[in-house]
Amino acid sequence: MSDIELKAHAERLSGLSLRELAEAGDGRDEALILTAAGLEFDATKQRLDLEALATLLSHARASGLESKRDSLLSGGIVNATENRPALHMAYREGGNLAGSDAAILVKRTQAETREFAERVRSGAYAPSGVRIGRVVNIGIGGSDLGPRLVADALADQAEGGPELRFVASLDPSDLRHAVAGADPASILFIIASKSFSTQETLMSGEAARDWLAGHVGADRAGAHFAAASAAPEKAKAFGIDPTLVFDFPDWVGGRYSVWSAVGLALEIGLGPHVFQAFRDGAKAMDTHFATAPLERNMPVLKGLIDVWNRIGLGYPARCVAAYSARMGKLADYFQQLEMESLGKSVTVDGRPGKTPGGALVWGGNGTEIQHSFFQWLHQGGDVVPVDFIGIARHFASDDPRERALAANMAAQGAALLDGRKVDPAVEPELASHKSMPGGRPSATLLLDDLNPASLGALIALHEHKVFVESVLYDINPFDQWGVELGKVLTKGILDGDISSYDASTRALLARTGLTPG
Ligand code: F6P
Repeated sequence: MSDIELKAHAERLSGLSLRELAEAGDGRDEALILTAAGLEFDATKQRLDLEALATLLSHARASGLESKRDSLLSGGIVNATENRPALHMAYREGGNLAGSDAAILVKRTQAETREFAERVRSGAYAPSGVRIGRVVNIGIGGSDLGPRLVADALADQAEGGPELRFVASLDPSDLRHAVAGADPASILFIIASKSFSTQETLMSGEAARDWLAGHVGADRAGAHFAAASAAPEKAKAFGIDPTLVFDFPDWVGGRYSVWSAVGLALEIGLGPHVFQAFRDGAKAMDTHFATAPLERNMPVLKGLIDVWNRIGLGYPARCVAAYSARMGKLADYFQQLEMESLGKSVTVDGRPGKTPGGALVWGGNGTEIQHSFFQWLHQGGDVVPVDFIGIARHFASDDPRERALAANMAAQGAALLDGRKVDPAVEPELASHKSMPGGRPSATLLLDDLNPASLGALIALHEHKVFVESVLYDINPFDQWGVELGKVLTKGILDGDISSYDASTRALLARTGLTPG
């Protein structure tokens, strides 16, 4: 992809206000508002016209987006550095994967996790004679963020079931809080780790086992542990009962693993029906991505707009503001999905990247972040596009608080778009302080309502839009080599093998007295 043409469009549009663009009335609204799988995506507040969009679409076609999408959805080797397909869609029979070998393969573990979830939920699985009332998922990154997001987002829709807690940090207080107040005999721990070699997860898992053994006895403790892993032998070697090790293939990337056995905590806590509806929602988005023409394809439009903001307009970041208390963890989830996938500057075939890769993603719960960092978004010296994510039903809700939530979201988009010019003749001292530049782009993504299907579709939309971006950037979105070095160096520190480390780090360790082992 040549950034020159995109930059030329950006230059051409720089003289126009966002309001002029938004009110052009030339078919732009039809092109920039799409609906699919219970979602509406409205990109009319972007600094983009139909001409620039046409260039982005032609870049997408020239980059082979259609054939690469088809390859992804049919199990082609899209992760070249690890020589693997990316088949997480098999868990929802999405894309072209219904009836495929991959879909058949995962059906076995789907049946196993479902059966185990039913046993735990019904009270039939009670290893210490007490019904399981709390499930603690121990995992980090993709083995934590997905289950954590979905547990929170769908908490109101749980069909009974044990409460869900999460441990990701090595800070002992994380585990302490996760078990506080529960009868140890009623806790089921799930160790979720694709590799089953992640230090944080294994150390917390061992600590949990020791803690539980102290309460229910070492002979019973093992039955309070299950595992979700692509390395089942390692989970068994850790001491997990082989019948409670639920595996998944290595072609499920960590940040795409919520659909797999990594979702076991959700299946137990929310119920298998809720979990299946979540997968079905994602499948609806897969079908849309696979079949809609590029011009009417939501993940394609979303991906192209994010490329446009990053490369055409040069914005280094994007803010995700979710106007739903239940979706406060969405930004964290997207942060890993996008930054671990697109934070690369090397091409698929190993040459220096032609672009800087994807943007920094951050955000939080809309009404709360309005009162913390939105000041920076409105008047700071950097422009950062915002994705507003809300619930369509709120706009016409009987509950005034839900209408106010929707109004807040709409108002923020309007404020970013127009800004405000305060007349110095009226307020000579404060005019410049109170004026806001405006011209700051945003997009609005509305879920019909927050339910398992719409949440599944929302996540799948972002998975696919990341893929679209990766095609235009010519990078592999499915590996993550950049996180390896820190792991190796941590081991060196704990092993006391730091002679090759830089002087600053050696001095820090000497000063603070970290002991090996
Ligand atoms: O360190 C990064 C990472 O490998 C992520 O890609 C992954 O989601 C996370 O660590 C946890 O890995 P695992 O599931 O293998 O414990």
